[in-house]
Amino acid sequence: MTGNGDVRFDAAMLDFLAQPRRWLVTGAAGFIGSNLVETLLRHGQHVRGLDNFATGYQRNLDEVRSLVGDAAWTRFDMVEGDIRDAATCDAAVAGVDYVLHQAALGSVPRSIADPATTNAANITGFLNMLDAARRAAVAGFVYAASSSTYGDEPNLPKREDRIGNPLSPYAVTKLVNELYAGVYARTYGFGSVGLRYFNVFGPRQDPDGAYAAVIPKWTASMIGQEEVAINGDGETSRDFCFVANAVQANLRAARACTAGTADVCNVAVGDRTTLNQLFALLRDALATHQIHYAREPLYRDFRAGDVRHSLADISHAEAVLGYRPSHRLADGIAAAVPWYIEHFRTTARPARQD
Ligand SMILES: NC(=O)c1ccc[n+]([C@@H]2O[C@H](COP(=O)([O-])OP(=O)(O)OC[C@H]3O[C@@H](n4cnc5c(N)ncnc54)[C@H](O)[C@@H]3O)[C@@H](O)[C@H]2O)c1
Repeated sequence: MTGNGDVRFDAAMLDFLAQPRRWLVTGAAGFIGSNLVETLLRHGQHVRGLDNFATGYQRNLDEVRSLVGDAAWTRFDMVEGDIRDAATCDAAVAGVDYVLHQAALGSVPRSIADPATTNAANITGFLNMLDAARRAAVAGFVYAASSSTYGDEPNLPKREDRIGNPLSPYAVTKLVNELYAGVYARTYGFGSVGLRYFNVFGPRQDPDGAYAAVIPKWTASMIGQEEVAINGDGETSRDFCFVANAVQANLRAARACTAGTADVCNVAVGDRTTLNQLFALLRDALATHQIHYAREPLYRDFRAGDVRHSLADISHAEAVLGYRPSHRLADGIAAAVPWYIEHFRTTARPARQD
């Protein structure tokens, strides 16, 4: 079975991880959260997960358990609960040193279809977690921000200090997270780091449902010899980031949290790839595993709320976190494709009704 077992750390980070600490990972049953749990357990850490399984799966946690083994799994405990409930957040954060807050409702189109539900999880839930962490005086609070915060800012590459108008309710929620984190630093001296993820992909990302991300969705379609649909002309570009890079950034950010400072960092690779290029990369990667997809993509309308181009300047994360992406897009695809084949080849994949 394949996991993200190759998250790479330098000597200073290995030194930091040599000491066992207690971590709370919210959204632990989700894609990025379960990858954080996996890496923390592999490094001897004690981890509590918090998730309401809105878009996460028990099967993700089961997979982490089988990857890390039963001995490491004894250092994990799971709270099934909702971050919209402040008492749940208080209970989950008790006795914790670091919080990696990933729980949220992702997806721009989901937020356009139902802004209130996204708002409740992503703003009320975020504030509950931030406040619980402040009152518990944790040593570090790292949270999932988003590249969607750049909105209509036209310049490339995206730099943390230049943002535009949000283009979706989801983007508003992620911007509000940053505003609250800033206020908590100035008002209470509470330190945090927000990680503006750019299109993260890798094992355990959900390929199903109306709000699936492009890489698992297309790969599952290619493996199943189904149609791949591209929104727009295929020249829309993204800075795709393998999950091992995001995991590295989270753990480095936890270590870098400083009282009174609310920092925000891009988490990406610094490479720009069009959807047409991505289509070819995935098709070619599958071909190396004797899965041949000969169909042409179907081009359809652009999707509301999507930004046209996205490319990160990662120099701030490099400077303040010591972040160095270990995987560029092709490396990440090569690492993820065996997992995709193992998990998507079955025709009996349970589909979520979003
Ligand atoms: N994947 C990306 O490319 C990407 C890009 C930018 C930002 N993000 C952010 O990263 C974080 C993790 O995203 P992901 O891709 O792993 O998505 P995911 O849907 O796999 O994980 C999110 C997890 O949060 C849980 N959750 C949602 N609402 C909750 C609630 N009210 N209470 C408790 N748990 C709740 C879900 O059940 C799920 O397990 C999110 O905050 C997302 O907005 C992701």
